[in-house]
Amino acid sequence: MALLDVDDVVVRFGGVTAVNEASFTADSGLITGLIGPNGAGKTTCFNVITGLQKPTRGKVTYRGRNINHWPVHKRAGHGIGRTFQRLEAFGSLTVRDNVRVAHDIHGGVLSWLRPSAANVDALLDRVGIAEYAGERADSIPTGTARLLELARCLASDPKLLLLDEPSSGLDEAETDAFGELLKDLAGEGCAVLMVEHDMDLVMSVCDEIHVLDFGQIIASGQPAGVRADPRVQRAYLGYSETDGDTAVIEPVTGQVAATGGQHRAEVPS
Ligand SMILES: Nc1ncnc2c1ncn2[C@@H]1O[C@H](COP(=O)(O)OP(=O)(O)O)[C@@H](O)[C@H]1O
Ligand SMILES: [Mg+2]
Repeated sequence: MALLDVDDVVVRFGGVTAVNEASFTADSGLITGLIGPNGAGKTTCFNVITGLQKPTRGKVTYRGRNINHWPVHKRAGHGIGRTFQRLEAFGSLTVRDNVRVAHDIHGGVLSWLRPSAANVDALLDRVGIAEYAGERADSIPTGTARLLELARCLASDPKLLLLDEPSSGLDEAETDAFGELLKDLAGEGCAVLMVEHDMDLVMSVCDEIHVLDFGQIIASGQPAGVRADPRVQRAYLGYSETDGDTAVIEPVTGQVAATGGQHRAEVPS
C-alpha cells in the first residue's frame, strides 16, 4: 500500500463540486505531480490531505491508517508537511529565525536543550538561501520566500511533502536547483506530492502524474503517457494533437498558462 492513498474524495462547497470522486496515491521515494487548470481542485485536495478541509465523502489513508478524523496538528506531527500557494512566513522575523521557529516547534522541549543553529543553517544552505539568513522575511524576493517556505517545512522532517506551486517566482537556474533538491529528497525516502504549472519541471522530475479537471482525475501515469493523452492536452495543456488547436506553452519556461478547464469556452474554435 502507498504511503498516501486518497480514495474517492468528494468536496462540495454549496453548489460547487471542487473535488469529484478523486482517487490517487503518493509514495515514499517518488515525486508525484498533481496538475490541472486553475480551479480544478488541486489546493482543495491538499487541504483534505492536511486536514484543513473535511471531505464531503471519501477517505484519506496515510501509512495504512484512515486519517479522516485526525486534526491538522496530528497529521503534521506524523510527518505530513506542506507549503502554501500563498506565502506564510513571519515577515518581521529574519529568514533564519523563521526556520528556527519551525525547527523548535517540531523539536518540542528537547530543542530548547539542543542548539538548533547548525541544523537551521544547514537547511538554509540546502535550499540555497543561506545568503539571506539575516534578512527580514518580508524583504526577500518571492522566489527566495518560496524556498524559505520549503526550508520551514523541511525543519519538521516530513515523510510526505506537499508543495503547492513551489516554483512560481523562481528563475530558471533556481528552478533547476529546486528540481535537483526534490530528487534528493525523494532519494532519501520522502514522498513528494507537488502541484505545479511549470511543465518542464513537472515532466523532468515527476515519477508519476495525476491530472485534475473540474475536480476529477482525468489521467494518471508516467510523464510521457500523460503528456500524450488527448484528454490532458485538451483540458490543460491547451491543445490537442487530434483537433489541431495551438499550444499555449511558452517556449522559454514551459509554463502552462493554466487557463484550460474553466476558460475553454472562451477559446475561439
Ligand atoms: N473555501 C471555499 N469555498 C467555496 N469554494 C471554494 C473554496 N475553496 C475552493 N473553492 C472552489 O473550489 C474550486 C477548486 O478550487 P481550488 O482547489 O483552489 O483549485 P486549484 O488549486 O486547482 O486552482 C474552485 O471553483 C474554487 O472557486
Ligand atoms: Mg491552487
